[in-house]
Amino acid sequence: MRRVVCPGSFDPVHKGHLEIIMRAAGLFDEVVVAVSTNPAKQYRFPEEVRLEMIGESLSGISGVTVQPMGHGLLAEYCKRIGADAIIKGLRGSTDYSFETPMAAMNRHLTGVETVFLHGEGPYQHVSSTLIKEVASLGGDVSSFVPKAVLQRL
Ligand code: PNS
Repeated sequence: MRRVVCPGSFDPVHKGHLEIIMRAAGLFDEVVVAVSTNPAKQYRFPEEVRLEMIGESLSGISGVTVQPMGHGLLAEYCKRIGADAIIKGLRGSTDYSFETPMAAMNRHLTGVETVFLHGEGPYQHVSSTLIKEVASLGGDVSSFVPKAVLQRL
């Protein structure tokens, strides 16, 4: 049984995230979408709403579960739930530069591997930050977020 963790704050989840989660579900027996909340960060949506939006967007997809990550290290969380790997989507070189030191650190901490999927196609430029900014100024983000998010934005 191969379990992988797809971590993030998902504030809010968008179609780029969902594409990576679906592709991960094709590679692993179980994908745990782990929703992080950092007390030092300000979120647009509270944790329970972020969990709800992902749950609604992925309902009926077998092999995918959604959980709060709780506080502490991602590497320790993976160890605790028996995950073999962390999965991340990479949109480009900026993501690569940001993610690779974390992958090395996580491997150093508990041995957990990180698997990167290349984020292709129509969601390459999409981020939660951009979605929030465009939506707050009245722009149309309906192509980039699931219904569960659009109705709450
Ligand atoms: O969606 P985000 O906010 O970019 O997600 C970042 C996340 C949750 C992957 C990252 O903040 C994280 O790993 N947090 C847990 C704390 C931790 O393990 N820090 C050390 C990383 S090497």
